[in-house]
Amino acid sequence: MTGLAARNETEAAILSRRSIRGFLPEAVPRETVEHLLDVAARAPSGTNMQPWRVIALAGEERQRFCEGVTAAYLAGAEPQERDYYPAPLPEPYLSRARAIGWGLYGLLGIARGERDKARAHMVNNLHFFGAPVGLVCLIDRTLKLGSWLDYGMFLQNIAIAARAAGLDTCAMAVFAGFPNTIHALLDLPESDGVVCGMAIGREDRDAPANALRTARVPAAEFARFRGF
Ligand SMILES: Cc1cc2nc3c(=O)[nH]c(=O)nc-3n(C[C@H](O)[C@H](O)[C@H](O)COP(=O)(O)O)c2cc1C
Repeated sequence: MTGLAARNETEAAILSRRSIRGFLPEAVPRETVEHLLDVAARAPSGTNMQPWRVIALAGEERQRFCEGVTAAYLAGAEPQERDYYPAPLPEPYLSRARAIGWGLYGLLGIARGERDKARAHMVNNLHFFGAPVGLVCLIDRTLKLGSWLDYGMFLQNIAIAARAAGLDTCAMAVFAGFPNTIHALLDLPESDGVVCGMAIGREDRDAPANALRTARVPAAEFARFRGF
C-alpha cells in the first residue's frame, strides 16, 4: 500500500496507520483508552513539560459534545483562537491538500458545489466519524511552539499504540475551529486551548471513505544526505 515493507513490528504499526473516517459502533473500554494515554505520555517533551491535557469522551458525554459542536457549526463561524494553517496555502502544500480533499470527496460521491453533502460530511467529522471514543486534546494557552511539537509526538504515540492494539484513529483539526463552544460544553478553564480532536475505535471496512490511500514524498526527495 505504502510501497514500503515493514522491517519490524514497530514499523508495521506505523505503516498500517491511516486516518480512518468510518468506525464500527463497538465500544472501547475506558481501561484501554487510559492505557493508550499512559503509553502515549511516554513521549519526549522539552524539559519534560508534558503539555498534553485530554478529555476522553464516550457514550452520552460524547454524544452531547458532538451535538453541541455540530449546532455551533450549523449556526455559523466562530472567532478563531489561532491561525492553524496559512490562508491561502502556498505550494506544494495546496496541491497536496487538494489531492486528499478531492480524493476523499470522490469516494464519498461529493461533487464540486454539492454543499449539502459537504456539510453532511463535516457533521460526520464532528461526530468523530462514528468512533465510540473521541479525545479532545487541550494545551495551556500560554505554551508555545516547542510544546506543540511535543504534543505532536504524544498524538502520534496514541495513533501507533492504538494500531498495535488493533484500533484505529483519526486526528481532527476541525475541532480547533470551535474554541468557545468547546469551552462552554466541557466547562474548561480559561487556560485551556484546543489543539485538536482524535477519534479512536475500530475501522468500518465497508465505509467508502476508508478506501482512501494517501501518498508520501520519499525521503530521497525531502531529505539531503551528506557525508555518507
Ligand atoms: C493534526 C491533524 C489534524 C487532522 N484533522 C483532520 C480532520 O479534521 N478531518 C479529517 O478528516 N482528517 C484530519 N486529519 C487527517 C489528515 O488528513 C491525514 O493525516 C492525511 O491526509 C494523511 O493521511 P493518513 O493519515 O491516512 O496517512 C488530520 C491530521 C492531523 C495530523
